[in-house]
Amino acid sequence: MTRPERVLVTGGTGVLGRELVRRLQDRAEVRVLSRRPPQGPGFVRGDLETGEGLAAAVEGVDVIAHCASAADYWRPQRDVTQTRQLLDAVRGARPHLVYVSIVGVDRIPFAFYQAKLDAERLVEDSGVPWTVLRATQFHDLMLMYLMRLSKGPVAVVARRSLLQPVDVGEVAERMTELVTGPAAGRVPELGGPRVESMADLMRSYLVAVSRRRPIIGLPLWGRLGAALGVGGHLLTDGDRGTVTFADYLHARIASDGVLG
Ligand SMILES: NC(=O)c1ccc[n+]([C@@H]2O[C@H](COP(=O)([O-])OP(=O)(O)OC[C@H]3O[C@@H](n4cnc5c(N)ncnc54)[C@H](OP(=O)(O)O)[C@@H]3O)[C@@H](O)[C@H]2O)c1
Repeated sequence: MTRPERVLVTGGTGVLGRELVRRLQDRAEVRVLSRRPPQGPGFVRGDLETGEGLAAAVEGVDVIAHCASAADYWRPQRDVTQTRQLLDAVRGARPHLVYVSIVGVDRIPFAFYQAKLDAERLVEDSGVPWTVLRATQFHDLMLMYLMRLSKGPVAVVARRSLLQPVDVGEVAERMTELVTGPAAGRVPELGGPRVESMADLMRSYLVAVSRRRPIIGLPLWGRLGAALGVGGHLLTDGDRGTVTFADYLHARIASDGVLG
């Protein structure tokens, strides 16, 4: 395929989407789908759940990078609805659809992951050229959880839970290659350079922000706990980035001054 001329990024205002849009802007005309009032040139107002604005958003695009997510663990099917609405809007056209999913959605018994898996299948069966990249947890997400879990006098983590968080900039780099390349189907998964327990990540965070807290590990029960304990979130194969969680924290502190 030749370089795409026009790319729609759903979720282009989100953590990954913002990084992706920045990288794509000098390579193609980029449209950003958002429910919010336009925040700059290229913004298209639309809602993936109601379908409002989608026909105009997808019109004439060569590639759609589908990075939107309701991230709603209580109503996980919202992500499936969003993907279906997007596919309904493109009907008749054949843009390359690049979807980003999560490592372990097929191994970890969690309703939100089942929904991501269902959304992957919708993309695969849609009839449009497609690419699906699974990534591990972004450092930003880990930081958000660790901040919340250490607000009190003790820091709480899930016991025996193994993670391999990745830098969102590295995911955006990979997405940029995928968006500007031909449809590739399922591509190698992308994760971070290190496997760490949640307690390790909490220790890195507390050191980075110079806070002292006892770290308490609580068990996660059932099949979910078992899957996390045996590394359901880890790469089995695929590519590793280079930026560790500790590197990310140092960079954030250097740029923002403080964390939370
Ligand atoms: N976070 C992680 O650790 C991680 C790891 C692996 C894979 N992923 C996947 O990567 C993707 C991006 O994650 P992220 O953390 O960057 O997401 P995020 O920061 O939570 O951003 C979510 C985006 O979805 C858009 N959105 C939500 N509902 C929408 C709707 N009804 N209509 C239109 N847009 C809607 C939001 O746009 P507006 O609010 O502007 O409308 C926002 O830009 C998701 O598919 C996620 O599952 C995430």
